[in-house]
Amino acid sequence: MKRFDKHIFICENKRPEGHPRGCCADKNSQALKELFKTRLKQLGVNSSIRANTSGCLDACEFGPSLVVYPEGIWYGGVTENDVEEIIQSHLMNNIPVERLLIKDKRFNKDVVKD
Ligand code: FES
Repeated sequence: MKRFDKHIFICENKRPEGHPRGCCADKNSQALKELFKTRLKQLGVNSSIRANTSGCLDACEFGPSLVVYPEGIWYGGVTENDVEEIIQSHLMNNIPVERLLIKDKRFNKDVVKD
């Protein structure tokens, strides 16, 4: 039996000021992670859907970046205003939020068309 139905990893990597790749920490990712954790707990689903901090996911240019497993669906440019939609649509009802998907085949090869 698996431990969690879904697992969402939110990059909180921090790079030095002026680094050419930038970082998700400078794009509000810690607050994003906290909001996911808070809402999942409020909804009573935190024992089956887990939100965790991640280091760099190598999707820095799309940050703040996050990935949902077991599907391996990648999101980018997520704001606090998007958290509820990701939870309600994807995490609880298995419908990915199309408009927030990283539009790059390296990440979402099954959902990004040629
Ligand atoms: S710094 Fe977040 S994906 Fe690289």
